[in-house]
Amino acid sequence: MATRSVVVMPGDGIGKVVLPEAVRVLEAAGFSAEWIEAGIGWEHWVEQGNPLPEETVELIAEHKVALFGAITSKPKDKAAAEIRAELRDEGHVYFSPIVGLRQHFDLDVSIRPCIAFPGNPLNFIRRAADGGVDEPRVNTVIFRQNTEGLYGGVEWTNPPDVVWDALDTHPKFAAFRDVPRPDLAVSTRIFTRAKCRRICKQAFAYAALHGYRSVTVCEKPNVIRETSGMMLDEARAVHEAYPQIQLWDTNIDAQMMWLTKNPEDYGVIVAGNMFGDIISDGFAGLVGGLGFAASANIGREVGVFEPTHGSAPKYAGLDPSIVNPIAMILSAVMMLDWLGETEIAERVRGAVAAVVVGGAVRTYDMLKLRGGPEAVAQGAATTTQMTDAIVEAL
Ligand code: NAI
Ligand code: MG
Repeated sequence: MATRSVVVMPGDGIGKVVLPEAVRVLEAAGFSAEWIEAGIGWEHWVEQGNPLPEETVELIAEHKVALFGAITSKPKDKAAAEIRAELRDEGHVYFSPIVGLRQHFDLDVSIRPCIAFPGNPLNFIRRAADGGVDEPRVNTVIFRQNTEGLYGGVEWTNPPDVVWDALDTHPKFAAFRDVPRPDLAVSTRIFTRAKCRRICKQAFAYAALHGYRSVTVCEKPNVIRETSGMMLDEARAVHEAYPQIQLWDTNIDAQMMWLTKNPEDYGVIVAGNMFGDIISDGFAGLVGGLGFAASANIGREVGVFEPTHGSAPKYAGLDPSIVNPIAMILSAVMMLDWLGETEIAERVRGAVAAVVVGGAVRTYDMLKLRGGPEAVAQGAATTTQMTDAIVEAL
């Protein structure tokens, strides 16, 4: 087998800690690759005025697959203040490099599995009818459209004349006509049929492959008729090819309420960008939170795999590190699936499951301790000890 190559972008803060741990696990599981390190994040913004260096984009274009740790981003004014003095007047504008990557490579399909590991003390429990306690078996995979909608970036405060005039052609704009222009902010929610179709197709194909019995469109078509309506229409069209799978639709607000009532009922969920973001954080909270939440960003050619968490600056400098590497490891496992290395992927997942159910090695979050250097003395495993345990279980 030719050696694969994978671009690795540790990024900032704990990204630099957890990404090498994921690589260590993959290698122990027998996945060999040339790991090509590429820069991304805050120090590149400060030094070059660009958090997503051109070399990094070129490396990803060449190698097609990348692991990403996390980056630090800061509000506009803070970003402007921290850039190197020589660059200050060159008109650099900070942008999120991960959002930049999603746009540049058209990584339009985001997959976020929220699958509870038995024995995880962070799993959601609820009061049963008889007064006892229920631990529902949450096994939900969210397919989030990753490039359009409210995160598409087409927005204005004080919209220019042509935009204002266009809006004014809509009868419902009458309610806003007298608002002073500088007091008017507009963020668009643009959906396209092709992208709705693609996310729905991916969701149904995944459900069929992995034996889920339902796909739920989670939007709000009764109110946001045009965009949410288009997603639902496309889901219905795609559904025709999958008669064995049920198509459900829920509204995002009601779905959030049902998170704590019957989360075990939902298999695959498909949603636009904003609602997909919300619902995937909601489900992630039921199965362990940020220490467990993995994700994939998939385009037609390129895949970028990342934990949902950020750079956790509070814990970035701790030695030894206490953060949970599992979210990053599970993201790397999603990469293995995407590369067709399903046997190795299953083995790593099995090793993580064994460590979680074994219970002897738990990071501070799993013990519900306050994070900090004292967590280790209170019995928390370090990041390295958690990785060691997973490698051992392999
Ligand atoms: P965060 O996800 O970095 O951390 C929030 C809290 O979650 C941490 O303080 C910690 O208590 C916990 N946590 C996160 N990862 C953990 C892990 N692996 N194990 C155990 N506990 C963990 O979010 P925050 O503090 O809002 O943002 C920090 C920085 O990260 C900001 O600059 C933000 O912009 C950036 N960020 C980057 C993301 C990315 O790179 N995709 C995503 C979210 C935030
Ligand atoms: Mg989010």
